[in-house]
Amino acid sequence: MLTLNFPSFPVLETERLLLREHALTDADTLFAMRTNENVMRFIDRERPKTTQDIETFISTFNEGFKQGQHLAWVIALKENPAQMIGSIGYWRTNLANYRAEIGYMLHPNYWRKGIISEALNKTIAFGFSEMKLHTIQANINPGNDASRQILLKHGFVKEAYFKEDYYFNGQFLDSEIYSLLK
Ligand SMILES: CC(C)(COP(=O)(O)OP(=O)(O)OC[C@H]1O[C@@H](n2cnc3c(N)ncnc32)[C@H](O)[C@@H]1OP(=O)(O)O)[C@@H](O)C(=O)NCCC(=O)NCCS
Repeated sequence: MLTLNFPSFPVLETERLLLREHALTDADTLFAMRTNENVMRFIDRERPKTTQDIETFISTFNEGFKQGQHLAWVIALKENPAQMIGSIGYWRTNLANYRAEIGYMLHPNYWRKGIISEALNKTIAFGFSEMKLHTIQANINPGNDASRQILLKHGFVKEAYFKEDYYFNGQFLDSEIYSLLK
């Protein structure tokens, strides 16, 4: 069984980005992103109703990191580390099988500048070398071509297509599963 046991939150850097822990001060930005229908178009999850929902989510998520359950970063530009512009990370883990699911989102002002690609390079390398994952999985809504293209660009391979396996908002939705082996 894999254990995630980091003594402190692993802050990562890339050429342009700082990847840091979520803080309660990110709640307003995260709320704005998670209620923005451009961002959420293919993210089939309940929208938060208040920033309080987000604060609770951040606290619970950070507690989960301390307990070794998962690990996800706020994406910020190095020149303004306090301003969240997106997030990326291993939101769900399957530690018994050394596997975790990666997910990411970015504020639309920053789309198509290679930011998620830059963050993915770093977090994939970290996932394999430091977290000791064996496979990284991604689960997309088949309509999400942007996400599909990014995954293919980073070497992910389509592993499965589940028909109507996911019930959300009164509909049964399909899922496409991609994975990257160490
Ligand atoms: C998907 C998303 C994260 C892409 O982030 P990004 O930083 O704009 O992506 P990048 O600039 O790093 O793009 C890398 C590659 O992905 C592909 N890509 C990105 N956006 C795309 C789009 N809108 N349409 C088609 N391909 C796209 C391209 O191949 C691109 O390479 P190129 O610019 O050289 O052509 C961003 O659009 C987003 O936050 N979407 C909403 C949230 C979401 O759907 N998250 C994924 C859930 S599974």
